Amino acid sequence: MTFLGLMNSAVLILCVIILTAYSHQAQALGPDFFGEGLCASSITIHGYKCQEFEVTTKDGYILSIQRILEGRVKVFGNVTKEPVILQHGVLVDGATWFLNSPEQNLPMILADNGFDVWVVNSRGTKYSRKHTKLDASSQEYWYWSFDELVAYEMPAAFDFVSKETGQKIHFVGHSMGTLTALLSLAEGKWENQVKSVVLLSPIAYLSRMTTLIGAIATRSLLSEGFTLLGIAEFDPKGVPVTDFVQGICVQSGLNCNDLFTLIRGENCCLDKSAFDDFMKVEPQSSSTRTLFHLSQIVRTDALSKFDFQSPRLNMLHYGRLRPPAYNLSKIPNNIPIFMSYGGADALSDIADVKKLLNDHFQDHDKDKLSVQFIENYAHGDYMFATNANELVYKNVTSFLKHKF
Ligand SMILES: *[C@@H]1O[C@H](CO)[C@@H](O)[C@H](O)[C@H]1NC(C)=O
Ligand SMILES: *[C@@H]1O[C@H](CO)[C@@H](O)[C@H](O)[C@H]1NC(C)=O
Ligand SMILES: *[C@@H]1O[C@H](CO)[C@@H](O)[C@H](O)[C@H]1NC(C)=O
Repeated sequence: MTFLGLMNSAVLILCVIILTAYSHQAQALGPDFFGEGLCASSITIHGYKCQEFEVTTKDGYILSIQRILEGRVKVFGNVTKEPVILQHGVLVDGATWFLNSPEQNLPMILADNGFDVWVVNSRGTKYSRKHTKLDASSQEYWYWSFDELVAYEMPAAFDFVSKETGQKIHFVGHSMGTLTALLSLAEGKWENQVKSVVLLSPIAYLSRMTTLIGAIATRSLLSEGFTLLGIAEFDPKGVPVTDFVQGICVQSGLNCNDLFTLIRGENCCLDKSAFDDFMKVEPQSSSTRTLFHLSQIVRTDALSKFDFQSPRLNMLHYGRLRPPAYNLSKIPNNIPIFMSYGGADALSDIADVKKLLNDHFQDHDKDKLSVQFIENYAHGDYMFATNANELVYKNVTSFLKHKF
């Protein structure tokens, strides 16, 4: 296994957690190293105007959303800008989009190309921990999986941006942000509000993940689930999770200290300072249930709602013994979709992406589906590789500008 291979699994589900266990310098800098709010910490410092919004979901979570309405080059005259929503993946937040320079990060490239950019921060992450009734320190706050992101969180973001702009919206998701987009479209959510969809490191099926560490971790997550089950917030920096990760390292015979050093030093396309910044702002909490739900996909090779692993609880939530399935074949064939996946991405494995394409996109309108494959790209490269602007974001920008 190459170190690049390790890096793949590094940036999503589990390696992120492993890295975090060793990111003590980050904590030494203090929680507000990057200032108050994402606008202040990541956006206005580069000369972009930025607005902060709070959006409340139907289930009471208050999301922090940033809007970059203008690029550094002013556009004069009466131009209607097209809105784009950016949705990050699991265990990170919107700050991850901004790790590179304005010339190299996607939201600023889009703003400079005349788009009206909206960055969503999912529930439970640093800037989105408020709720109308629940406190983030309570267990109840964390009783959700990506089912609730599909049912409540994404619709809230789409409704809000629709209302503010009065326009159809482009969507760009990374990692779990692609899974929730695919499931939303399958469920007929925001179908009438969306203009086109970009999926970076698309995630749907997960059973073909080959990386040793990913496999071990998801299986451990399952078997040791009961230990963790008492902990509803999956905080990668918290003691129960770091202990758990240490356990995986011991069990798998990997020296995680060495792993971290090697990952920091060696990979094709990550800038060292961007990676160091990543370690300062990420990872972020998610719900333990979300991690379980992902591991259920790994285990069953099927996309269903969260399985409570108890007929009684499933009955209570769904009125049936087994959780209902999502049907990705219901994604409308005429939605313009751009997908980019990497050959070194351990989480979004090539074979899993191929299954997604073969099983559900055969009938998609040919001129509305664009698929890019980048041989040496891993999971995190889509967010902060130094050459992502050249290899990926240029294509994304021209796709979004294309008149379908
Ligand atoms: C801008 O253009 C739209 C449609 O092209 C028009 O309805 C609107 O009145 C214009 N606004 C201004 C301030 O000129
Ligand atoms: C999934 O949706 C497709 C398209 O509507 C339909 O043909 C197929 O029967 C559905 N599959 C299941 C298992 O319901
Ligand atoms: C990406 O852009 C390159 C260079 O412009 C082009 O050759 C390639 O076909 C594009 N790929 C996709 C999937 O759009």
